[in-house]
Amino acid sequence: MKKFTSKQLKNMWLTFYQSKGHKVIKSASVLPENDPSSLFTTAGMQPLVPYLLGEKHAMGTRLTDVQKCIRTGDIDEVGDNFHLTFFEMMGNWSLGDYFKKEKVAWSYEFLTSPEYLGLSKNQIAVTCFEGNEYAPKDTETYNLWKEQGVPEDRIFFLPKSENWWELNRGPCGPDSEMFLDTGKPKCCEECSPACDCGKYMEIGNDVYMQYNRISDTDYVPAKQKNVDTGFGVERCLVVLNGANSVFVTDVFEDAMKKIEELSGKVYNDLGDEFTSSFRIVADHIRSAVVILGDEKGISPSNTGAGYVLRRLIRRAIRHAKKLDIQDGKLIELAKVYCNYFADFYPEIKANEEKILKELSLEEEKFLKTLNQGIKEFEKVVSGIERHIEFAKNNNQDIPSKIINGKSAFRLYDTFGFPIEFTKEMAEERGFSVDMEGFKKASQEHQELARTTSAGSFKGGLVDNSEQTTRLHTATHLLQAGLQNIVSKDIRQKGSNITEERLRFDFNCDHKLTSEEIAKVEEFVNNAIKDEIDVICEEMSVEEAKSKGALGVFDSKYGEKVKVYTIGNVSKEICGGPHVKNTKELHHFKIVKEESSSSGIRRIKAILD
Ligand code: ALA
Repeated sequence: MKKFTSKQLKNMWLTFYQSKGHKVIKSASVLPENDPSSLFTTAGMQPLVPYLLGEKHAMGTRLTDVQKCIRTGDIDEVGDNFHLTFFEMMGNWSLGDYFKKEKVAWSYEFLTSPEYLGLSKNQIAVTCFEGNEYAPKDTETYNLWKEQGVPEDRIFFLPKSENWWELNRGPCGPDSEMFLDTGKPKCCEECSPACDCGKYMEIGNDVYMQYNRISDTDYVPAKQKNVDTGFGVERCLVVLNGANSVFVTDVFEDAMKKIEELSGKVYNDLGDEFTSSFRIVADHIRSAVVILGDEKGISPSNTGAGYVLRRLIRRAIRHAKKLDIQDGKLIELAKVYCNYFADFYPEIKANEEKILKELSLEEEKFLKTLNQGIKEFEKVVSGIERHIEFAKNNNQDIPSKIINGKSAFRLYDTFGFPIEFTKEMAEERGFSVDMEGFKKASQEHQELARTTSAGSFKGGLVDNSEQTTRLHTATHLLQAGLQNIVSKDIRQKGSNITEERLRFDFNCDHKLTSEEIAKVEEFVNNAIKDEIDVICEEMSVEEAKSKGALGVFDSKYGEKVKVYTIGNVSKEICGGPHVKNTKELHHFKIVKEESSSSGIRRIKAILD
């Protein structure tokens, strides 16, 4: 069989589809635009959803690309031969242009032509949709594969679980998957590509998108018939090159060398006590580099995509420690990836400085509490072990090896251990974590935070540090600024504060102009310069309303409420806490203004 490097494969893909009239488009961001249902771009088609639903694409009706994808559902599987949290997907699309006939012919040509993958027809197997109540059996695709010369016993009809592609909502349809037959004997009479015995290895997928999923169970015919093809680069390399794992392909070659150099250990792909730590460090830092280097770049935080990023970095740090990699050295590995990605994703190389800075910062933050946290963890575990020992010796009921929710929450809240991380450490010691208890403890913490902040903080875990208090007061000034400068009808629709920034959602029918943003900033900064005292008074809800106080979460308030007044700038019902005087805020800056959902804008702002 032919062997390929990742670059050869990607270039070959783009060249092939260009020769079939496709235009090459740039990979979209890994952070989806206006799609609250998903934190990351998980497939090549995701950024193209509007066009698959009928909108015109500026580059025409035939497109091809290599898309950056993040799938963190698999994060705990990383360490085995295949799973990665970041992967590249080679794709091509027909947007209401060609359909099955052309696509099967081209897929067959790409798989078998000596100029491309060069597989023989006896080395491949394909699958077609067997039909259900939504869509008929796909005999058309079956016949097309047969016409190309794929032997009948290599074409399989499989059910929706295997041969249907969809996201939560949106364009979807039956698919036809392509496999390499490794030549291993069939594991049983029914052995098929649905089987995971290792005989058939998936290479790629052609989706015939003719439906739009509008609810969990409702599918309506789409306006246009599309083709959506995806071939995972790393998976293809492993399968086509007959590699043992993705970590011995060229994708990870320099990275593994770097980890060997930093750890003074030799990587063993066949498995020893360090194999999975090598792989986790390699994978997670690679994903972190891609996310930090994205054009929409985010920073580690305690919610959403930022939290996933934090988990990736912190998990990598813990496994780097297991490999005896010195603190602060993971940026050397990040540099390797910045170079690796430079030609396909120039934004990553361009953001190298930022990537390295953010990684170092997060590492610094985490290292401050990591050792203490590990000690704390050991204390909890050995405490339970002692109890077990005692119970055994005294013929008492033996306690379970479970870390209670409160302890797990303390590790999260005080030492910055992502809960998944505590679970993993627990598992390594034969323990589990009471997840229900953890959820309860974090809810109780949120309740507490809510009573002190009157519900202004929703979602995410709150830290009542000085900085969040300052950001909280800034949120009131921001709302006042928006009402004064943009529209008196603006009201808070959501708020979230982390140590680094405030996030404020509000009703507004337009994108703020840069002039409006500048004026709102000026409004807030003037209130800061004026050094206004922040006054807190207690009164009934009625009284507060009659004094013109704004209240966003009325229903949650008790009889008496606190009203915070900032001179004649702002008056809001709120549980606090707030600063004593606006001068404590120093300087306010809006760093982002974007759409949050229909009719709702979102501002992110910082104090510096
Ligand atoms: N969207 C299809 C997939 O991700 C091609 O497999």
